[in-house]
Amino acid sequence: MKSLIIYCSDYKNNTGRVSQVFAEKIDCELIKLKNVSDIHNIDTANYDIIGFGSGVYKESLSPKLFRMVEKLNLIGKNVFVFSTSGVGMKFYNNSLVKLLKSKGAIIKGSFACKGSFTSKDFSNNKIFALMEKLSQGHPNGKDFKEAEEFIVKLVDSLNR
Ligand SMILES: Cc1cc2nc3c(=O)[nH]c(=O)nc-3n(C[C@H](O)[C@H](O)[C@H](O)COP(=O)(O)O)c2cc1C
Repeated sequence: MKSLIIYCSDYKNNTGRVSQVFAEKIDCELIKLKNVSDIHNIDTANYDIIGFGSGVYKESLSPKLFRMVEKLNLIGKNVFVFSTSGVGMKFYNNSLVKLLKSKGAIIKGSFACKGSFTSKDFSNNKIFALMEKLSQGHPNGKDFKEAEEFIVKLVDSLNR
């Protein structure tokens, strides 16, 4: 089975480390998206499953990832979405899931975990100071284990 993961991880490589766990488990190609223009001819026909991941920046996955997805032919393609964020909730994945669906992709899963951050890097809001504490040390061993379980289950469901 051929698989590809395209991810954005511009802050602390939190999402990058989760991508690495996926890649080790399913032996897939990893592309770190820096500039959309870096990536020209990804032929989606070469892959059985494609994962899209990003850190969350100001309530959204990276706009670069959305622009990338816009360019791809994803009709009938199995895909999954993942993110790391201060809160570690899957709802941040929803807008990308929606775009992928509108491109005809088949959503096979959505994964999220916490990723550490320093609140003063982007906000003076006290809520973020609290979230910063809760996110310390993430992604951690438990997050990586959950990531492994997620990807193994997903691939099993494709092979069935
Ligand atoms: C500029 C900026 C904005 C962020 N905004 C949010 C946010 O809106 N919600 C949240 O839960 N976490 C937020 N975070 C925390 C990041 O989502 C978290 O650190 C994530 O793991 C970063 O991923 P990366 O290291 O792969 O880039 C923000 C971090 C930065 C640097």
